[in-house]
Amino acid sequence: MLKGQRRTVERVMRGALSALEQQLAAEQQLTHIGSWEWVVGGETVQWSDELFRIYGLEPQSRPITFDFFLSCLHADDRAAVQGQVARALQHGGRFHYPERVFRPDGSMRELDTVGEARRDEQGRVVRLIGTCRDVTEERQRERAIQLYGDVVRNVQIGLTVWRMPAPPVEVGAATLVTSNLAAEQATGVALADAAGRTLAELFPSAAAGALGKLIADVARDGAVRQLEAYRWGDAAAPGRSFAVKAFPVPGDSVGVALEDVSAALRARHIQEAEQSVLEMIAAGAPLPELLDRLVLHIEELAPPAIASILLLDAEGKHVLHGAAPGLPAQYNDAIHGAAIGPRAGSCGTAAYRGEQVIVTDIELDPLWADYRDLARSIGVRACWSRPIIASDGRVLGTFALYYREPREPTAADLELIARAGHVAGLAIQRRQLDDQLRALSVRIEAAREDERSGIAREIHDVLGQELTVVKLDLAWIARRAYGDGEAIRAKVTDLTAAVDRIIQTVRRISAELRPGELDDLGLVPALEWQAFEFEKRTGVPCRVVARLEGARPARPIATALFRIFQETLTNITRHAEASRVDVVLRRDGDHLQLEVRDDGKGISVEAARSPSAIGLLGIRERARALGGTAHIGPIAPRGTQVSVDVPGGGGP
Ligand SMILES: Nc1ncnc2c1ncn2[C@@H]1O[C@H](COP(=O)(O)OP(=O)(O)O)[C@@H](O)[C@H]1O
Ligand SMILES: [Mg+2]
Repeated sequence: MLKGQRRTVERVMRGALSALEQQLAAEQQLTHIGSWEWVVGGETVQWSDELFRIYGLEPQSRPITFDFFLSCLHADDRAAVQGQVARALQHGGRFHYPERVFRPDGSMRELDTVGEARRDEQGRVVRLIGTCRDVTEERQRERAIQLYGDVVRNVQIGLTVWRMPAPPVEVGAATLVTSNLAAEQATGVALADAAGRTLAELFPSAAAGALGKLIADVARDGAVRQLEAYRWGDAAAPGRSFAVKAFPVPGDSVGVALEDVSAALRARHIQEAEQSVLEMIAAGAPLPELLDRLVLHIEELAPPAIASILLLDAEGKHVLHGAAPGLPAQYNDAIHGAAIGPRAGSCGTAAYRGEQVIVTDIELDPLWADYRDLARSIGVRACWSRPIIASDGRVLGTFALYYREPREPTAADLELIARAGHVAGLAIQRRQLDDQLRALSVRIEAAREDERSGIAREIHDVLGQELTVVKLDLAWIARRAYGDGEAIRAKVTDLTAAVDRIIQTVRRISAELRPGELDDLGLVPALEWQAFEFEKRTGVPCRVVARLEGARPARPIATALFRIFQETLTNITRHAEASRVDVVLRRDGDHLQLEVRDDGKGISVEAARSPSAIGLLGIRERARALGGTAHIGPIAPRGTQVSVDVPGGGGP
């Protein structure tokens, strides 16, 4: 080869080589792969430009010593990297390790290093060469994907994605793109292999209902929408509620997220039900009304259960009807008065044992042997009962749930029964306390009346008698007055008049304490006498219309009505400015009704309701103590009416 020719070849070769190097550098830059080379024993390591860039340095801006390299490494990775290098130096061959390095600005990069130890002809390791790939972004993506994967696999939120058909096709024609396990559990429909099937096929009632509309709306305008408490109509588990969110997904699709909120919703509803019954208890609502309300609440919360409350009688030996609006009357009547015992159905046994009795199948359970036919006649198959226990441990009754099919309770069912039983217990105890209070107040009132009668009699008979004697003595003195007779006689006449007035006063006080008429002649003459006295005192006519055929009212009733009448007349005198008063006393079945109306200025609604109106409070209390009611209020066109209704018109 000629000299010139050789030079040309060298030039071409050099050019080709440098082109190759440039290409390599460009490739390194594109793929973020740097390379290095270390001649064993050398002070420094040779780095490619891209490796400098990966480390956040200007290409070839400084010598790279092994110590500098180590100082860039994450402290946790140093030992592993040093170990790999040492092994490669000793044994030769290939090595591979991940490493994390810090750039001068403090940011961290993740690198993947692959290297090889090269030997000379004698087999000594003389060079280490390697490539480093910057995998930071790649790893971040992988981690994110893994995280999403975990989230999607593990979330309790059901996810489905539906591809929307082009309008004007119905939303039911939307096809399932993908779903997760939670969606399958939530809907009770197998979705694993259902991709491509339509909404209408998989969830016919949902497609036709609120959910279908929700999906269609989102598909139309792309706005995220939600439903608060959606009941999945096609679900295998009825009665469950879901929070539903529908959102647009790229590719003409709509995502639907479902979260089972049944438990939370149920807890809230139980609380609301408890609250409303507790409020009724606080307001003093009658027990049957209260228990009915409680039972209806529970039935609403636990369909298809039929709830029942039984009360225990005073001896604690028999059950009495409490509330069971969902059970036929014939069944309630048959149970009313049944004895409790060790084999007395679910409730009778629960009351007897003082503990919960769960009968999952009435047909098979020996506890129901005596009641099986009765249960069969109304078509109930399961009955779970729990005793209602007072705070002092007494059994007050039972709370039970009936079902038309054999059934076992869930933990949530048992919790519901326990809570309902607790609330029922509060209501029953409140009622018992009220009854005790009422009985006590009746007894106190009776004792007071007895005391008054005693004093009235004493004043009337003894004091009246003594004064009459004084009067007779005065007359005797008057007849025998001589000498200063005129003056003495005049004095005696004055004294006699004074004694007469005292006798009148004594009679009045005695009568007001306890009118003799009330005990001797009865309620009607006592009212008439009181009305007459009122008229005499005020000049306001007071007419009494009393129709009371049959037996005279019992003494406590007569007394209460009389005292109510007295207070009412006092109020009319003091507040009404009336020109006429009308009184009606009548019997209505076995109730007694007293009505007093005046034509005065009329009581204001505030005064009638005021808790500080002691007189009105007394009127209501007297009626309530007898198990009756009192209403006080203004009437049209003017005036005030007090109407009292008490049970037990007849009496000894
Ligand atoms: N017949 C009536 N007509 C007009 N106002 C009445 C009548 N009865 C009661 N009231 C009003 O109701 C209020 C409460 O009555 P009450 O409790 O008996 O208290 P008191 O008579 O001591 O004021 C009275 O203060 C009065 O304002
Ligand atoms: Mg008064």
